[in-house]
Amino acid sequence: MNLTFIGTGYVGLVSGVCFSEIGNQVTCVDSNQDKIKQLNRGHVPIYEPGLKELIQKNQSQGRLKFTSRLSEAVQEADIIFICVGTPPLASGEADLTYIKQAAQDIALEMNGYKIIVTKSTVPVGTNDLISSIMQQLSQHPFDVVSTPEFLREGTAVQDTLHPDRVIIGTEDERVAAKMAELHRPLSSNIMITDIRSAEMIKYASNAFLATKISFINEIANICEKVGADVTEVAAGMGQDRRIGSSFLQAGIGYGGSCFPKDTDALIQIAGNVDYEFKLLKSVVEVNKDQRFNVIAKLKHCLGDLKDKQIGIWGLAFKPNTDDVRETPAMEIMEELLQEGAIVKAYDPIAADNFRKSFRHEDLVIWSPDAKAAAAECDALCLLTDWAEFQDQDLKELQQLMKQPILIDGRNVYSREQVSQTDFQYYSIGRPDIGGLYPYKEESMMLS
Ligand code: UDX
Repeated sequence: MNLTFIGTGYVGLVSGVCFSEIGNQVTCVDSNQDKIKQLNRGHVPIYEPGLKELIQKNQSQGRLKFTSRLSEAVQEADIIFICVGTPPLASGEADLTYIKQAAQDIALEMNGYKIIVTKSTVPVGTNDLISSIMQQLSQHPFDVVSTPEFLREGTAVQDTLHPDRVIIGTEDERVAAKMAELHRPLSSNIMITDIRSAEMIKYASNAFLATKISFINEIANICEKVGADVTEVAAGMGQDRRIGSSFLQAGIGYGGSCFPKDTDALIQIAGNVDYEFKLLKSVVEVNKDQRFNVIAKLKHCLGDLKDKQIGIWGLAFKPNTDDVRETPAMEIMEELLQEGAIVKAYDPIAADNFRKSFRHEDLVIWSPDAKAAAAECDALCLLTDWAEFQDQDLKELQQLMKQPILIDGRNVYSREQVSQTDFQYYSIGRPDIGGLYPYKEESMMLS
């Protein structure tokens, strides 16, 4: 099929490339001419494992092209995917400016029947809005379909080529059949539903995953006080198939371009229809607090943080991405600098992006590698669970530091690994090693 993707952000670029990989003729359009030039020169604007190779392969085999000329791309296509951004407004609501613009642009360029597919995450009712914009402006027939995207950064290519499920929101049987045919090479698990339910499935899924994370983080905080180990608790819970084992990894909270934005947007969507989503509001609150767990632990070990040298490992919101949007590292580092600490930081991939968005960029010592960031430090904080950090020789690391204090914000190291060193080790929701963390033995005794 001839497919056009409008918007070459994470969703548009990865989806377009993957649909070309399964044999479709794909055009990716973006109004940013620089980005298109770069893509045509083989430069991929995001770090995503496997993406560059697929782009090169499908470009060279003639199935994939990048352009900023919308009219051609619309006219050649059977199906047009809207993959533009829906950034948050100050209220938390999704900003639909780019969506509306895309609908207008498509309507004005159409030369015959098209299927318009919304892949961007959009509030319930947005696809109806797209239909009405197009109805007003287009001379040609069309159908609007909602197929939300569930890819994760860092595993975006695999998630797109092998999704758990494909959701197709349309009330038209012929359109459903065509969309199912397009997606069948990717998954046999295709659910056809109505447009508004499809829109809601995306928000509800992300909100539920965020809820699992905040839930396990609160369990972790309780575990610290009662002397339990949250990784054991999560493993035990996860064996119940009704609960499932994924997204129960305690840490310093979720970040990224989706969970924070989509939870806020869903709270707002509910508010717009006079419903207070109390549970989700708490999920967001818990997540905001969780990152400061690291600061509390540092203060417990070091007292006043003024002039203390603190190493930071990991700036991306999660491993295998250079994305730093809503990353917990941002606020943790701001707080450390405010407390007067000297901060050294390292990330394998995301340091450049982080530096561009961090307002105290000039106050940080940017380290070229993990060891340099730890050297001479009073404490080291691991904030992103990059594999590179897991593989470090802790005994060697301990020698480099002024004080062997390790705050593991992602529960990366095992008890065995740390026990063989002199590290005072504090993780999230697990018993400390070699230190005196303030959970009182007495508080665990039943009276
Ligand atoms: C998420 C959804 O998973 C994806 O389906 C949707 O399309 C976009 O949003 P993404 O933001 O790329 O994907 O990352 P994800 O792997 O879901 O992680 C989100 C955040 O949660 C990260 O900061 C991660 O560190 C954190 N997380 C995840 C935890 O703290 N614990 C977990 O158990 C899982």
